[in-house]
Amino acid sequence: MRRLIFAANWKMHHGPRAAAAFAEKFLALVAPAEGRDLWFFPPAVTLPAAARAFEGRADVRVGAQHVHWEAKGAYTGETSIPLAQEAGATTALVGHSERRHLFGETDEQTGRKVAALLAAGVTPVLCVGEKLEEREAGQTDAVVLRQLAAGLAGVDAPHLERVVIAYEPVWAIGTGRNATPEDAAAVHRVLRRELQVRGARGRVSILYGGSVNAANSVALLEQEELDGVLVGGASLDPEVWAGIVRR
Ligand code: PGA
Repeated sequence: MRRLIFAANWKMHHGPRAAAAFAEKFLALVAPAEGRDLWFFPPAVTLPAAARAFEGRADVRVGAQHVHWEAKGAYTGETSIPLAQEAGATTALVGHSERRHLFGETDEQTGRKVAALLAAGVTPVLCVGEKLEEREAGQTDAVVLRQLAAGLAGVDAPHLERVVIAYEPVWAIGTGRNATPEDAAAVHRVLRRELQVRGARGRVSILYGGSVNAANSVALLEQEELDGVLVGGASLDPEVWAGIVRR
């Protein structure tokens, strides 16, 4: 059976109090289910509260939205992987399009982060996705394959299945315009083929993200290519998110 990951990217929303209130409502609505994992990416300051609020639920993991690859040092404003782990993170986003396009995160930096996360035993979720002008110029495959290659530059074949990939077309994030299920699946196939060429042994989980909501999530997840979804806006309300994960 396909394992599905429902990943909630809270971006710059929900402080510690809001996370506790969210968890109380959400956990009352959603019982653990076979083959379904629930991952939450709260802001860094909310990590400990979120980890505490979801404690005891083996189907829930909490992760960092952003980490630095160095373990410690003079990097004002950054969160190291050991600090994120101490706060409860067992997974982390890498190369989210907002980090790439608003804050200048480079392909090369994504590679360092993925390698450092794997070395620390934290699951990287490597995000890739093309901008609208790149899609219109027919460059989607080239862009996502370039981002994949850079992100996985330090990962050897036996470790590939410890990485999760999220395909998030930039033009679909927060815009209300999602990729069609078929378009999403086509890009997932391109990524999967490349992962096989690189020697991935088992199935690497590939999530889709970009304006996923209660109205489109079922059709998207009917595509066997999708191993889950990475969701921003529609993950902020406990009732809406519970409805999506319960399908
Ligand atoms: P969205 O964000 O669901 O609000 O489009 C997705 C993401 O950025 O991960």
